[in-house]
Amino acid sequence: MASQVLVAANRGPLSYALAADGTLSAQRGGGGLVSGLSAALAEQPGALWVCAALSDADREAVRRDVSEPGVRMLDIDPTMYDDAYNGIANSVLWFTHHHLYDVPREPVFDAEFRRRWGSYVAYNEAFARALAEEAAEGAHVLVQDYHLALVPGQLRELRPDLRIAHFTHTPWASREYLDMLPADVREQLVRGMLGADVVGFHTRTWADAFMSAAHLDDERRVAVYPLGVDADELRALARRPEVDAKLAELRAEIGDRRTIARVDRTELSKNILRGLLAFRELLTVHPEWRGRVVHLASAYPSRQDLKVYRDYTAAVAELAAEINAEFGTEDWQPVLVSVKDDFARSLAVYRMADVALVNPVRDGMNLVAKEIPVLSEAGCAVVLSTGAGAYEELRRDALTVNPYDVSATAEALHTALSMPDAERADRTKRLAAAATTLPPAAWFRAQLAALV
Ligand code: G6P
Repeated sequence: MASQVLVAANRGPLSYALAADGTLSAQRGGGGLVSGLSAALAEQPGALWVCAALSDADREAVRRDVSEPGVRMLDIDPTMYDDAYNGIANSVLWFTHHHLYDVPREPVFDAEFRRRWGSYVAYNEAFARALAEEAAEGAHVLVQDYHLALVPGQLRELRPDLRIAHFTHTPWASREYLDMLPADVREQLVRGMLGADVVGFHTRTWADAFMSAAHLDDERRVAVYPLGVDADELRALARRPEVDAKLAELRAEIGDRRTIARVDRTELSKNILRGLLAFRELLTVHPEWRGRVVHLASAYPSRQDLKVYRDYTAAVAELAAEINAEFGTEDWQPVLVSVKDDFARSLAVYRMADVALVNPVRDGMNLVAKEIPVLSEAGCAVVLSTGAGAYEELRRDALTVNPYDVSATAEALHTALSMPDAERADRTKRLAAAATTLPPAAWFRAQLAALV
């Protein structure tokens, strides 16, 4: 009989909202981890997804025992959770792996940091204990991401019989960035992950960075699984009537103008501000595009508990408004920002995109760069940052840019908009083929196979 499969991730496949009248409703979580894992787990009967309750509504769902079959939500003390998720995972580990620190001021590792680190350790222990409790003899446990870096080591102590994998969905920090962390913290992170039998990453670059941090010269425990997209599933989702309706709405608004599309969480690493600056420079340096192109920027809110994210979200809205005020005319609004996490609208945007702008400063993979070529109807030129994990697989047919070079990005947008239709269609076909090499179910199976 096949071994039992358990997955552990901070975010579960759904989260709850609590209405004023006390009713709970479930919604799908955002980000690449949830979309990849949800698709993969649909294939694994009897699998269990262990996740944290992220909000008061989630904790209420745990207390009322309404959570879905196959999901175990952990009701973690809210202060401890806030320290671990906001204070350590998203403010320290995310910033380290994505190189986001404003170095003259950050990071600061003081007594407050130590207190939060203690919560991070305890929060990881809560996962390790739950997994140890749920796992059958010899079960396979797949631990996800930087939130849970210590779980493999902790779980190994509790249950030496289990087979454990860890997968990191983010980049892994360069040596210089990793060395900013206090030495003992760095050690705990690396040793925690090495509690796993196999440690996985999206790209060779991130895997090599980890090996150098861990002083590993034995490659056998580090593996590369570049997550791709499932073309059939994506097409079926994009053909639904509600997506057709969104597409018709957008067409009516935009007319036959060209579109430059982006879809991201409003996330510092996604480099949305420099994307807008590049669009502004395009309209300045190549005025022939004025009135003929619309920048569709979907930037839905993320991690709004952190002030730096709230400030960034406001700065995106402000810059878009400035560009619209500078160039807009009575019948043309250059930038359309959408801040709603509206999956149907995003799929409609993918279908109508002439150009995709994917310019993160650093990104574990970036599935949007893979989804757009699969769905674009008329062929889509992808302007892709060298900092995206997807760069390793898509660079031949994308127009690649240094994410800090706004002028080069503006020029790449111009080249993309000017690309002959036949070339665009050809490149799109090859991009879509590369994007679908390892769809979620195969990505997941490959990791399970490595545990046997
Ligand atoms: C990235 C991370 C995921 C995370 C997602 C959304 O894709 O790798 O682990 O779930 O962002 O972020 P959030 O903080 O909302 O879970």
